[in-house]
Amino acid sequence: MRVGIFDSGIGGLTVLKTLIDNYPNNEYIYYGDTLNLPYGNKTKEELNLLASKDIEFLLNKNVDIIIIACGTVSSNCLDYLKNKYQIPIYDIISPTINYLNNSNYKNIGIIATNRTIDSHIFKNNLNKDKTIYELSTPELVPLIESNNLDNLNTILDNYLKDYRDKLDILVLGCTHYPIIINNINNYLDNKIKLLDMSIPILPILKQDNTSSINIYYSKLSNTIITNTKRILNNTNINLNINSNI
Ligand code: DGL
Repeated sequence: MRVGIFDSGIGGLTVLKTLIDNYPNNEYIYYGDTLNLPYGNKTKEELNLLASKDIEFLLNKNVDIIIIACGTVSSNCLDYLKNKYQIPIYDIISPTINYLNNSNYKNIGIIATNRTIDSHIFKNNLNKDKTIYELSTPELVPLIESNNLDNLNTILDNYLKDYRDKLDILVLGCTHYPIIINNINNYLDNKIKLLDMSIPILPILKQDNTSSINIYYSKLSNTIITNTKRILNNTNINLNINSNI
């Protein structure tokens, strides 16, 4: 199956990596819209437009399904995109909400972009017996994209210090955040379960018998190439990293 995956940048590679590790035999076509990054502060109208362009790029590559590997687009544009396109479209947040609603976790923290948090998608859809802490953490994506993590601990402390003793689980509600999962774990002394949203989406796919990975970015740089190789390490398939311009 030809699986199309998109995000604003390198964040969705965390989803791609989980999919490749579990289902190496599929054809993966990834698109990162690095020219328009970050998505997390854009309006819903801007997101609808950008996500449409992302999907049309992938449709031109003849994909069979599309996975929105972006929390911001998933929380703001899903209905719009499903109405607009015939192709099966899967978002990254609904399976996470199902997973949490079927779990015993009671005190749930979510860190995500401004626009994902503003949508209150988690608060509105998680069972009412749970206590939800929705936290905007907009400084993280630019740091992760630029690979400039020197002040990360101070930033995590600002965001999380009032919550770290209250949570049973912390949802990494932006697909960029699993890239720094070790830093977050260290900051929390490994005391809180961290949820990477790529795990609950696994049942969407199944094994096929061809394998290829093609990665496209709307703007390419050496940092993006280095980050891509680092995130997809141990991937035994040749990577084709391209600019679509
Ligand atoms: N990785 C994306 C998300 O999951 C987008 C982050 C951004 O571009 O601000 O929300």
